[in-house]
Amino acid sequence: MQPNPKFPASSDAVVSLGELLGALSHALDLTEGQPKGHCVRSCWIGMEVAETLDLTAAQRSDLYFTILLKDLGCSSNAARICQLYLTDDIGFKRSYKLIDSSAKKGLEFLLSHTASESGLLQRLRTVTSVLKDSDDIVAEVFQTRCHRGAEIARLMRFSEDVAEGIAGLDEHWNGGGWPEGLRGPDIPLYSRVALLAQVAEVFVAELGVDAAVAELARRAGQWFDPDLVPFFVELLQRPGFLQAFHDPGLEAHVFASEPVRQQHLVDEDYLDEIAYAFAKVIDAKSPFTHGHSERVAQFTDTICTEMGYSTAHRRWMMRAGLLHDIGKLGVSNTILDKPGKLTDAEFEQIKLHPLYSQQILGRVSVFHDLAITASAHHERLDGKGYPQGMTAENLSRDMRVLAVADIFDALTADRPYRPALPLEKVYTIMDDMVGSAIDIDCYAALQTAIANS
Ligand SMILES: [Fe+2]
Ligand SMILES: [Fe+2]
Repeated sequence: MQPNPKFPASSDAVVSLGELLGALSHALDLTEGQPKGHCVRSCWIGMEVAETLDLTAAQRSDLYFTILLKDLGCSSNAARICQLYLTDDIGFKRSYKLIDSSAKKGLEFLLSHTASESGLLQRLRTVTSVLKDSDDIVAEVFQTRCHRGAEIARLMRFSEDVAEGIAGLDEHWNGGGWPEGLRGPDIPLYSRVALLAQVAEVFVAELGVDAAVAELARRAGQWFDPDLVPFFVELLQRPGFLQAFHDPGLEAHVFASEPVRQQHLVDEDYLDEIAYAFAKVIDAKSPFTHGHSERVAQFTDTICTEMGYSTAHRRWMMRAGLLHDIGKLGVSNTILDKPGKLTDAEFEQIKLHPLYSQQILGRVSVFHDLAITASAHHERLDGKGYPQGMTAENLSRDMRVLAVADIFDALTADRPYRPALPLEKVYTIMDDMVGSAIDIDCYAALQTAIANS
């Protein structure tokens, strides 16, 4: 076994808030079915326009984080979308952002996306039921997303203005939006800017500048604040806009911008709070993972305490537990919540989630080593795990601890295909895994701690 050399010593300020949340916003892009960097590019577009608005430095900072974190509640409606529309949540969300407001387009969208894997009869039944209850259903889906996003922003210490800006993202200027049906200037300014920035980014990325300009003009006064639209059109038509939009250096530019520099660096306590808040985003993705990340963090801490880890190392390991499944945000709920056996193709999708976790966490400088440990939670000592098929000689003690905590929670919680197992049965299953899948010392530490609790 490799010694554990990797966790950093405790220090004060560890990372900038912009870098941390910008990197984690890539997880939100995955859940929304958007290309990498959608939230960051939307943030850039909104902040370029904000230059022309009369905002104080504090207001610009609030607007920045409203746009960057606009999709914080995104995971909370994924399972419901699958259940209501019988379709893949990620593809549904990607396409939904591209529809316009006409009834005909909306109907075409429903017909093409509802129950997309089912036979014609099932699709018609679902579409009929969705149309019958459409107002209630759409309101419910948006309400969940908006309120949840605002709640998580508050947990991350953001102001009420940021929380309300996120809650109002789907309100429309003509009063036809969600969740409150706010109208005109009653909609928070940050929400109005964020919605315009979001739609501009999606249309520029998918269909180009001309299509984006046409879309903004078409929805002015309907979805969008008509006084703001010309500022966005001017930006999109500015020479060099498209080049900057596709510039690989754009993200670094956004993270170095003034609203971020204004923010204090994130210290260890704040980093813990953000990890806890993001764990709630991760666990909201599926009803079957409710509380999973927090419990894995707790079981991890239980094992680490029993094994004599230092306080700083335990803290680092709890963050790994909280964030290990962040890549699940990129897996469709049609797979995560499937009650039956997964097909080979579906299991291939599941196997991608630790890789996504590594990619997302690896974008944060202070999470470089944590990303490697967290992404190994499905590896096994015998090399039959995933995603890399690592073997005992490469699995650090930290990775082994996390794997035991993850398996223990998976077995002691309800799953789509079976209820929670009693402790005795869990131990029988895990006993059989010792030496082939899980580490004997980490497992023994867990059992000792539980016996003494
Ligand atoms: Fe996992
Ligand atoms: Fe997990």
